[in-house]
Amino acid sequence: MKKIYLTTPLYYVNDKPHIGHAYTTILADVISRYQKLSGKNVYFLTGTDEHGQKVQEAALKLNTTPKDHVDKFHKNYLELWSRLNIDFDKFIRTTDENHVNKVKKVLQTLWEKGEIYQAEYEGLYSVSEERFITEKEYEEGEYREVKKLKEKNYFFKMSKYQEQLINHINDNSDFIIPESRKNEILGFLKKPLDDLCISRPKSRLEWGIEIPFDNDYVTYVWFDALLNYITGIKWDRDNDFFKSWWPADYHLMGKDIITTHAVYWMTMLMANNLPLPKHIIAHGWWLIDKTKMSKSIGNVINPIELIEHYGEDSLRYFLMREMTLGQDASFSFELFKRRYNDDLANDLGNLLNRITILIRKFCNNHVPDIQNYDKIDEDLIDKIKILPNKSLKNIDNLKINMAIEEIMSVVRYINKYLELKEPWKILKTNNTDQSGLNTLSIACEAIALSAKLLFPVMPSKCDEIFKILNIPSESRYNLKFGQISGNHIQKHNVLFPRIEDND
Ligand code: MSP
Repeated sequence: MKKIYLTTPLYYVNDKPHIGHAYTTILADVISRYQKLSGKNVYFLTGTDEHGQKVQEAALKLNTTPKDHVDKFHKNYLELWSRLNIDFDKFIRTTDENHVNKVKKVLQTLWEKGEIYQAEYEGLYSVSEERFITEKEYEEGEYREVKKLKEKNYFFKMSKYQEQLINHINDNSDFIIPESRKNEILGFLKKPLDDLCISRPKSRLEWGIEIPFDNDYVTYVWFDALLNYITGIKWDRDNDFFKSWWPADYHLMGKDIITTHAVYWMTMLMANNLPLPKHIIAHGWWLIDKTKMSKSIGNVINPIELIEHYGEDSLRYFLMREMTLGQDASFSFELFKRRYNDDLANDLGNLLNRITILIRKFCNNHVPDIQNYDKIDEDLIDKIKILPNKSLKNIDNLKINMAIEEIMSVVRYINKYLELKEPWKILKTNNTDQSGLNTLSIACEAIALSAKLLFPVMPSKCDEIFKILNIPSESRYNLKFGQISGNHIQKHNVLFPRIEDND
C-alpha cells in the first residue's frame, strides 16, 4: 500500500489558536482523509512548539514556571483539534522527553562530525523573531525589538550545503509548492548563505534544550522544533517504523515559515544524511480586511465561536472551499454566511430533504431499483461515474477547492435534474411509473456519492447523510455507481439550518 506522511507546523504554545492555525491543520486532515479514501496508508503529525523566549516571558508574567505554562496551554490546541474533528496520528510536544533526548543526540553527532563549531558573533538580534537578522532584513523593517548583540555561540555549517540545496530545488520542480515560493527561496539562495546560530546562552534564555556538549547554552527553538518531523516518527528508536514513513510526503505550512523549512531544515537533513521530504507546501494567509490575521495585530477570529454556532463542518467547508492553495484569502462573517447558505443550506441540505421526502412519500421509504433509464438519466449517471477520479485527481494536485467545486457542481446538477424530470408529477399520477422511480433512485445515488466524496471535508455531516441513507460503514469507501437501491431511508432533521440575516 502506498504511504503518505504529512505534517503541520508545530504551533507556538503561547498563542490562542485562531482560524489561520485551524486552516493548516484542517488542510492536513482533509488531505489525509482523502488519501485514505484513495486507499493510501497515512501518518499525520501535528503538535506544539514549546521552548523559547516568548514562553519563558509569558510564564514569568503569569508567575508560573515555563513547564507548568506549556502543560496548561498546549491543551488549547488539543481541544480545538478535537472540536474540529482532526484525526491526527500523533500530537508531538517539543518538551516530550523523547524529542528532547533525540535533539541532543543530533547535536552531539553533528558536533562530533565537525558540523557545529563555536564562534563569537556580533550582529543584529530580533527579540520578537528570536534570531539574528541580516542588515538587509533590518532595513526591510519588519522585525521588532532589534538590538546589537555580541556573544559566543554555536553555529551549524549551513553554508556548506548551499549548492547541494540549490541543485535539489532545481532538479525537483515540485519540491517547493507553489512556484512563487520556490522562486522566493531560489532568490534567497542567490546570496551567500550564512551559517546558522543554533544556541542561546543561558544567561539570556534558560527555557530550551540544553546543548549536550556545553551546559551554559540551550538550543535555538527552530533547530529544536524542526527536528520534530523525525523524532515524531521514532527516528533512532524504531528504525523500521521510521523508514516506513520517512521521507515526509507533505510538509504543510503558511508562507511565513517557508525559509526555515526549505533552507534550515533541508540543510539539517543533509548534514544528518537523511533523505529530503518530497514536497514543502506553503499556503497563503487568511486576511481580515487585507491584513494578515495574527495575534500580534489582534485581528484574530476564534474558531470555537463559529463551531459553537454553526458546527465544525461548516467551518471546515468554508476554509477549504474558499482558499486556493498558495494564495491569500479573506475571512468575513458575510462571506462565511453566503457560502454556508448557498452551498450547504440550499444546494446540499435542501436537496437531501427533497429526495428523502419524495422517497418517503412515493416509495415507502425504500430507494427503488433502476431499470431502463433514458438519456437525461444517463447524463447524470455519467457525471457520477467520473466524479471520483476527477475530484481525487484535484486532491493529488492539491487543488482542494477545485475538488470541492467539482462535487458541488454535481450536487447543483442533481437539483437541476429533478426540476427537469419532475418525478413528483409523474409519481403522483402513477406511483409505479419506472421513469419516476429511476429519477429518485439516481438522484439518491448521486447524493450518496457526493457525501462519500465530501466526507473528508465534512466528516460529521456526511456521517449523518450515511445514516439517513442507510449506507453501511463498509461501503463508505466504495465509490462505484449502484450502491443504494433497496436502502431504507431514515427520518431526519434539516442538515444545515439557514443562517438568518439577524444572526
Ligand atoms: N512554531 C513555528 C513553527 C515551527 S514548525 C517546526 C510557528 N508557529 S506559529 O504558531 O506561528 O504557527 C505558524 C503557522 O500557523 C503558519 O505557518 C500557518 O500554518 C498558520 N498560520 C498562522 N497565521 C495564519 C494566517 N493568518 N493565515 C494562514 N495561516 C496562518 O511559526
